[in-house]
Amino acid sequence: MEKADLLRTVEWKNNAVIMIDQTKLPNELVLVTYTDYNQIASAIRNLVVRGAPAIGVSGAFGLALAALQSNAGTKEELIGDLEAAKKTLFETRPTAVNLAWGLEQIMNVAKKGTTVSQIKNSIIDTAKQMADDDIKINMTMGKNGSVLFDDKDTIMTHCNAGALATVAYGTALGVIRATRESGKNIKVIATETRPVQQGSRLTAFELKHDGIDVSLIPDTAVGYTMANGLVNKVVVGADRILRTGHVFNKIGTYQVALLAKQHGIPFYIAAPLSTFDLKSNPQDVVIEQRNASEVTQVGDRKTAPDGINVINPAFDMTPPELISGIITEAGVARPPYEESIKKLFQANK
Ligand code: MRU
Repeated sequence: MEKADLLRTVEWKNNAVIMIDQTKLPNELVLVTYTDYNQIASAIRNLVVRGAPAIGVSGAFGLALAALQSNAGTKEELIGDLEAAKKTLFETRPTAVNLAWGLEQIMNVAKKGTTVSQIKNSIIDTAKQMADDDIKINMTMGKNGSVLFDDKDTIMTHCNAGALATVAYGTALGVIRATRESGKNIKVIATETRPVQQGSRLTAFELKHDGIDVSLIPDTAVGYTMANGLVNKVVVGADRILRTGHVFNKIGTYQVALLAKQHGIPFYIAAPLSTFDLKSNPQDVVIEQRNASEVTQVGDRKTAPDGINVINPAFDMTPPELISGIITEAGVARPPYEESIKKLFQANK
């Protein structure tokens, strides 16, 4: 496990994509190698790779594999093959906007290209650059966010918005890492995050590995810890942020935000500009519904009666009035968000 800090969650090497298989964590650190874009689509669908920025970069790498797999003789044929691959990759997970963003970045590069071989090379270069940029963006975001946290803070986080949800370093956990690197002594409370347990399997694993003081709680203990003064700030990631400041993130985020409001605890979001969707309205966003077995089983063990009806949304929406600030690589947006988000994007043009 010591090697984890040397690894990227997703990486391009020798014309193949290498990923940490997150379904195996925390028990085994297994690397998988893919050379077919259909394998990348399955990996995204089955949560081998997950987290909004990580699936954005994975989608881009998927298109790079599709370009290498293509036997097209003309630019038009290559674009046709890429469009087909883009559709397969896009349909894997609907909520995190970073996936569509990553695919679009690559299609734009392909459309601007001239010859087949030039397009293939520039797609690979662009996807590799996106992976490198992701780490730099997270480190800048971390620094921007670290000023909001104080020595002796106990910070709650939900799901995994860490190195494993990005190429490396993380968004919400990047802010926590940067706060610690700035010399502040902090503690973290990680929610378990049922049903897929990204909090216990991934966040607790990552923070413990880095020597950050982390306590794991069941999701049902959020109210208890807040009511008993055990938490004084919250930071989570995001899968999609609208121009109004509505935030879509892992199921349960809304409950954490409501409880934080009730207890007067600042509730922050940390996400890159690629997570913003400035066009959609709240009702346009598709919430992924996942398999019932995630709820009726813990691992392979059945924990509910056969045939039970299940509602298993993967994400929920937190309204802007519950959010104290949105930390990005371009600065921190504060309410009213329609204005502050617009300013962030104008300044970053
Ligand atoms: O279903 P997941 O594990 O892909 O959900 C991940 C989250 O909800 C994260 O909080 C979000 O993607 C932000 S990751 C930096």
